[in-house]
Amino acid sequence: MMRECKTDLPVFVPLVQEPWGVLKTLNVARQNVLGIIPKIATTQPIVSGKTGKRWHMVMDPAALRHILLDRLADYPKSQVTKNLLRPAIGESLFIAEGAHWRWQRRAAAPAFSHRNVANLGPIMTTAAERAIARIEAAAPRAVNMLDEMVATTFDVISDVTFSSGQQFDRAAVHRAIDQYIAEAGKISLFDILGLPDWMPRPGRVMSGQALREMKAMADRAITARPAPKAGQVPDLLDLLLAGEDPQTKRRMNTAELRDNLLTFIVAGHETTALTLAWALYLCAFDPAIQRRAHQQARAVLGNRAATVDDLPRLPLIRQIIDETLRLYPPAGIISRTALKQDRLCGRDIRPKDTIIVPIYALGRHHLLWDKPDAFDPSRFADPKAIDRYAYLPFGDGPRICIGASFALQEAVIILASLLARFEFSAITGKTPKPVMILTLRPEGGVWLTAKPL
Ligand code: HEM
Repeated sequence: MMRECKTDLPVFVPLVQEPWGVLKTLNVARQNVLGIIPKIATTQPIVSGKTGKRWHMVMDPAALRHILLDRLADYPKSQVTKNLLRPAIGESLFIAEGAHWRWQRRAAAPAFSHRNVANLGPIMTTAAERAIARIEAAAPRAVNMLDEMVATTFDVISDVTFSSGQQFDRAAVHRAIDQYIAEAGKISLFDILGLPDWMPRPGRVMSGQALREMKAMADRAITARPAPKAGQVPDLLDLLLAGEDPQTKRRMNTAELRDNLLTFIVAGHETTALTLAWALYLCAFDPAIQRRAHQQARAVLGNRAATVDDLPRLPLIRQIIDETLRLYPPAGIISRTALKQDRLCGRDIRPKDTIIVPIYALGRHHLLWDKPDAFDPSRFADPKAIDRYAYLPFGDGPRICIGASFALQEAVIILASLLARFEFSAITGKTPKPVMILTLRPEGGVWLTAKPL
């Protein structure tokens, strides 16, 4: 099949051409962590440096497999990630290591099984319908689709965790989470580069108010939860409550349940919204692809919102999501700390070295992708053609994102529903800028006009 060949490129972050001193690195990182990735990270398999501590950026698929799969225990998550998230989500699945991670992962796994995720589909469809109604009401004014998608994915995550007709203050939860993400973002990811401790860092102290509210809300949801009635579809909280590690028979106590519930909300809500916002930006950027996607969605859906059963007939929508996650991975950088002496791509790795996986640079690597900065969903037409460890929007190995299929199902349902109903157009002078603080966000929002079709 002929490839789309739009000659201009969607927005990208200009990467660093020459080595910088510590201070300049610090200043750039404060504004945009992606700005510290050197350009050669998109042409070399490994880039090493020392900014206080020794670090290595790894872009070689075989070495990444070694770190994330074969030698998992020797490369735990770096302290910085853990320190950043621990106040909100305790020693939950995202943070824990070793046996404490393993039993929680086994206990939570059934909640994310194919069948259970599919059962949550109607909640995603309803959220898509609500988004359509809001956008329709706003037309023909320009809409900030980032805000719309944050509202939409929040509908989903709150309905799959705090549902069952319980009373809860949706707006308050939303405020608490957004405030937490904004505050945590200020702390930023400097320590990834091992900057010395005396370096000033912004806003290290969090107000704690947002966190307390969030935790209290989750505790109430857990203790007030009635056992699901026969025939009722269990939501994520029901499934987590029922979860048990088949090996140790251990079940989560209230504090562990709460920490994991909050993990799902924090890890799953904004990331999926960003994916959708960037996907819509890309569709407006490339009207020819948007037209084809609209035709596919319209042929399958007519005027209704998409359901789980429609997914197999929406391959182009799925490819657009896959390609969006390559170009704008919400988790743009992940990091690990080496525990043991090792060798990666011919380099010596010493204990305590920081390993950076710049997922953003990996997706745009010249040795791994043809025309890496171009938007071309057809590269994902045959998933087998993709080198697994060259494409890591969800990480990989045993610690791969537990919510990956949940997020993909949600993103395809919502994107297909929107593209079937609207034509989205870019607004001159309103191009978003990719900025990564905690996640890779479109700074300035994704302002589009939405013409009902
Ligand atoms: C497009 C949306 C999403 C993206 C891009 C994303 C990305 C990631 C990445 C890259 C990791 C691995 C981090 C590392 O190895 O350092 C991860 C882990 C995780 N994600 Fe997601 N995620 C998304 C949606 C979700 C959703 C919807 C949930 C839950 C409802 C979720 C829950 C988690 C959890 C619990 C982990 C930790 C798993 C473990 O360590 O065993 N994520 N995610």
